[in-house]
Amino acid sequence: MPEFSTPTHFPEGFLWGVSTAAYQIEGAAAEGGRGPSIWDTFSHEPGRVRHGDTGDVATDHYHRLNEDLDLLSALGAKVYRFSFSWSRVLPAGRGDVNEEGLVFYDRLIEGLLDRGIIPIPTLYHWDLPQGLEDEGGWESRSTVEAFGEFAAIMGARYGDRVSMWTTINEPWVLTYLGYALGLHAPGKASVDSAARVHHNILLAHASGAAALRSTVTNPSIGIALNMSEIYPAADTEATRGAAALAFDQLVSSFLAPLMGGKYPTGLAEYSAQWVEGAGVVEDGDLATIAAQRPDWLSINEYHPRYVVAPEDLDAVRVDGWVGEAGTPFTIGQRFVDVTRGSAPKTIMGWILEPQGLRDILVRISGLYPNLPLYISENGYAGADFLDQNGAANDPERVDYLRDHITAAGEAIAAGVDLRGYFLWSFLDNFEWAEGYMTRFGIVYVDYPTGLRTPKTSFAWYRGVIASNAVSGGPS
Ligand code: FCB
Repeated sequence: MPEFSTPTHFPEGFLWGVSTAAYQIEGAAAEGGRGPSIWDTFSHEPGRVRHGDTGDVATDHYHRLNEDLDLLSALGAKVYRFSFSWSRVLPAGRGDVNEEGLVFYDRLIEGLLDRGIIPIPTLYHWDLPQGLEDEGGWESRSTVEAFGEFAAIMGARYGDRVSMWTTINEPWVLTYLGYALGLHAPGKASVDSAARVHHNILLAHASGAAALRSTVTNPSIGIALNMSEIYPAADTEATRGAAALAFDQLVSSFLAPLMGGKYPTGLAEYSAQWVEGAGVVEDGDLATIAAQRPDWLSINEYHPRYVVAPEDLDAVRVDGWVGEAGTPFTIGQRFVDVTRGSAPKTIMGWILEPQGLRDILVRISGLYPNLPLYISENGYAGADFLDQNGAANDPERVDYLRDHITAAGEAIAAGVDLRGYFLWSFLDNFEWAEGYMTRFGIVYVDYPTGLRTPKTSFAWYRGVIASNAVSGGPS
């Protein structure tokens, strides 16, 4: 275990920011010429989202843009990471361009620049236009081409004002939750579908990055991958192998092709239905992906994971680990996620272990030492409320943020080239299948009225940004 010192100060120029995504905040789902996306369809299907919540209105950010820009300014954010709604710009996914949609993003980008905030848009944060889904969606290569066309339109329009671009948010989540487990849009539960999407989404990154590189002068292009450090929960060879396999499935199966044009070999042996075994890889594809290597990597991290090999499950149960064979994240049964029954968790069921953030940063930086890193999501889910004085106090979120930002600082002290931290999330918002009950914002949103109330964590984070420092150690 390396020794970590805890710096209070972050490097000069460290980019502090906040993150959001279009479908989670914009609302105005059928306004301004926007076409439907798979999340509109999915959220309107009974039983898909908790309480039947949808993104129809969400935080009404579309209509409250100036107010939200002023809040970002009051926070002192250096960066705002947001996503474009593809179907607001191309209502059918390709073809006719909706100028009104482009004007909305002009206003957003201009509003940020006027306030000295760097815009970092994500081209795809899960809201595929329904028109493309109807033609096969991410299972079809024609969607990969359509994504390139969309990227070229956005590059041509905003390339004079935006230089840092993220192609895709969390390919793992959209692939496995959307196509293998059916928990996210479009709600499919097929390993074969997931294998096709896994590969096509990497091709889409390449097609989007190539389009940006041909429409924007010197763009700086990243991709956001969800990651967790994966620890073996038992000290056996089988479990160490299971942890390595789980890491390959979660991280390397995306990062290795992006960085070096190869899928990790262990996975093909592990499941014949997985990408390489499923026959979706065509000649030249891996070279196409590797040719669009990202300039930097965004890491979305909330919690680490612990796994065991199935044969070790009974043994670790005795030590208080809880887990169920048969419910690993996706394909195959070679690793089982476990947690300590007594581990503190958020209302998402995510364990609270800040050192997981430090460890994953150190690990990725060890694998790819020349790749600049950003934390593009990290945050705390709570069931926040306004008290009788109209205040939103969220001390647990402050604890979480302080401990995780401290862990990020430890990673920097250990030599990681970490350039920024974008907290999830700016506003409470539509948390996908969890709906509105789960709140991640540092600004409380009263959904019936749209009223915004900065939480205690907002003031605390403003202090971190202003001083470029965090005081370490738990409270
Ligand atoms: C990530 C998503 C983001 C948000 C957080 C909590 O997986 O990218 O949109 O839902 O989780």
